[in-house]
Amino acid sequence: TTGGTDDQKRRAAERAADLVSSGETVGLGTGSTAAFAVRALGRAVEAGELEDVFGVATSFASRELAREAGVPLCSLDEVECIDVAIDGSDQVDADGNLIKGGGAAHAREKVVDAAAHRFVVVADPSKLAETLDRPVPLEVLPAARTLVSARVDELGGDPVLRTADRKDGPVVTDNGNFVLDCDFGAIDDPASLSADLSATPGVVEHGLFVGLADEAYVGTDDGVDARTY
Ligand code: A5P
Repeated sequence: TTGGTDDQKRRAAERAADLVSSGETVGLGTGSTAAFAVRALGRAVEAGELEDVFGVATSFASRELAREAGVPLCSLDEVECIDVAIDGSDQVDADGNLIKGGGAAHAREKVVDAAAHRFVVVADPSKLAETLDRPVPLEVLPAARTLVSARVDELGGDPVLRTADRKDGPVVTDNGNFVLDCDFGAIDDPASLSADLSATPGVVEHGLFVGLADEAYVGTDDGVDARTY
């Protein structure tokens, strides 16, 4: 959730929801932008415009929203294919590489988004950057966080354990893990950093999504700027 307006987010998300056809399985992203797509899908199901569509939630929050919006669900461990995934992002670079995990949902998001035949990012212009430079969220096994922090330090990052305003102690993810927000400054080689982080024991998943997005829909004040990668 950065500087975009709700109208920008809604335009992008509703355009992406229009891609979904009857009979398809849809990855339902997490966050305020993807939420507009989930609601649009729910309206289409209710209006009878979409039949036999099943959503695959990427988090507790997206599952609850889908239920409320009337999107039928199937669980991630049951699906054999995902046709389209619609998901937000915290930052999008010129090549369509992403930083995700602002809502601590990136581990399941990556499983769903990577499995989708078509992964469409929905965003507003405040998410666009030439080079990724926001802190990269790492979901880590709680017992490994000291060792993972030391490795992040060696890789040139500054790890901070995520906490929440209304909870004492660390944020705990939907999977029971902690989150380290790791500031690497400008990330000139996201593929190499992604490989280094993936190779670190104790990192369940990191928020760099390199080469996964097929398209991005960026909502503007008067339309949608569509990009293909
Ligand atoms: C969740 O962990 C993130 O990956 C979200 O997809 C991201 O934070 C986007 O959220 P907004 O659409 O609210 O900015």
